[in-house]
Amino acid sequence: MKRISSSRNRCLWSVSVFGFMGCLYCIHLLFMINQSLVFLPDETSEFPNNHDHNDDVDLASEEELKFPTFSSTGLATDGGANLLQKFLDKDSEIRTFIFPDATNAIDPRKGNDQFYYYPGRIWLDLDGNPIQAHGGGILYDKISRKYYWYGENKNGPTKAGLIKDLPRVDIVGVGCYSSNDLWTWKNEGIVLKAEETNKNHDLYKTNVLERPKVIYNEETGKYVMWMHIDNGYYNKAAVGVAISGSPTGPFSYLYSMNPHGFDSRDMTVFKDDDGTAYLFYDSLHNLDMHVSQLSRDYLHVTNVVKILVGKHREAPAVFKHRAMYYMITSGCTGWAPNEALVHVAESIMGPWEVLGNPCVGANKIFRDATFFSQSTFVLPMPGAPPGTFVFLADRWKPEDLRDSRYVWLPLTVEQEAYSESPGDPVIPEVSIYWHKRWKIPYKRSSNDSSSKFLIP
Ligand code: DGJ
Repeated sequence: MKRISSSRNRCLWSVSVFGFMGCLYCIHLLFMINQSLVFLPDETSEFPNNHDHNDDVDLASEEELKFPTFSSTGLATDGGANLLQKFLDKDSEIRTFIFPDATNAIDPRKGNDQFYYYPGRIWLDLDGNPIQAHGGGILYDKISRKYYWYGENKNGPTKAGLIKDLPRVDIVGVGCYSSNDLWTWKNEGIVLKAEETNKNHDLYKTNVLERPKVIYNEETGKYVMWMHIDNGYYNKAAVGVAISGSPTGPFSYLYSMNPHGFDSRDMTVFKDDDGTAYLFYDSLHNLDMHVSQLSRDYLHVTNVVKILVGKHREAPAVFKHRAMYYMITSGCTGWAPNEALVHVAESIMGPWEVLGNPCVGANKIFRDATFFSQSTFVLPMPGAPPGTFVFLADRWKPEDLRDSRYVWLPLTVEQEAYSESPGDPVIPEVSIYWHKRWKIPYKRSSNDSSSKFLIP
């Protein structure tokens, strides 16, 4: 008996010792994993206080703002370049976080999570297909009282580009989606199609069509689309114009041009409150930007001024708040993300001043990479206090561009924000807040039975 009990004791003793050592080992392992690659709690995830004035924007809780820090060897010293490499490496461990798979796609056909934006998730249209409207913009059409989202349909295979390290998709055309609530999108089809046979046509499929934007001309009753037109080498560098009598097209392609004789790459159009419209376009290999007032019919450029001279910025997204003009831009790094900047001007023709990086929340690396996305458009947020906007950006997926994602986030402007010292002019503050999920404060039209109309 004694022998049995003492051997059992010995046995229990060794089990405990090994168990204890095993536990220590597991703790050590977890610690190592944490240190070497995956998610550490983020000390910068606190929600900024200066957002309080927008309490009625249905913002996610602080819990939702928790953002992983990708801690990997060298990150602290290389200023994030390593992370950029990981972003570009399709096999890297950060990919599942940056490009979540289809299991948690935003699907408006399902009732749960209604109206919530999840930046970076696959977003399905009402047919259950991923939305194809990259590099896009939104038009609110007062006639149909609907929102239209236009963008690049990139639903084709990604091929090696003619320029080294710059993959591309053949032109499919400009996709158009309509919505009453900015969340549920009906596919209206391809409103400007690629040209399949005529190799000399601007829209011939092996060319480039990027960043289409549509504005409505009250005087002519026409919807006018401006877009970046290029060849596969990106050395045509032109801007194209198309026109339609309906927001859902079809759009007739008119022509392309090198505005004012300059090369033109990333671009956007902005329609001011008085109906005057402007074209912003990058020139001199993106070194300078130009802004030009459009003719009354929006089909031609008129006078031009240089802005952001020598600044090398891309992806302009222009908006206005209380008589001041703002613009978000990106740096120039192909499909890879980089730091956004916000610029401000009293006159749309300049001078434009740089305010800095508007990204807030998450962690530094993600703020410095615009939450792994690139600006494309800024839309006044319906139902929210003045100065609240929706920032629209693209999270490009270079090896499979059709699976690029959308990053929509709240943006606020505080015009009485701060002055550098007493008596100095007040500097406005523009902030784009990271949210894992968020939704627009829906103010619905009371006389609309569908109760789904968002009032702009
Ligand atoms: C960045 C631009 O903003 C995009 O529209 C596209 O032209 C890519 N570069 C191509 O690398």
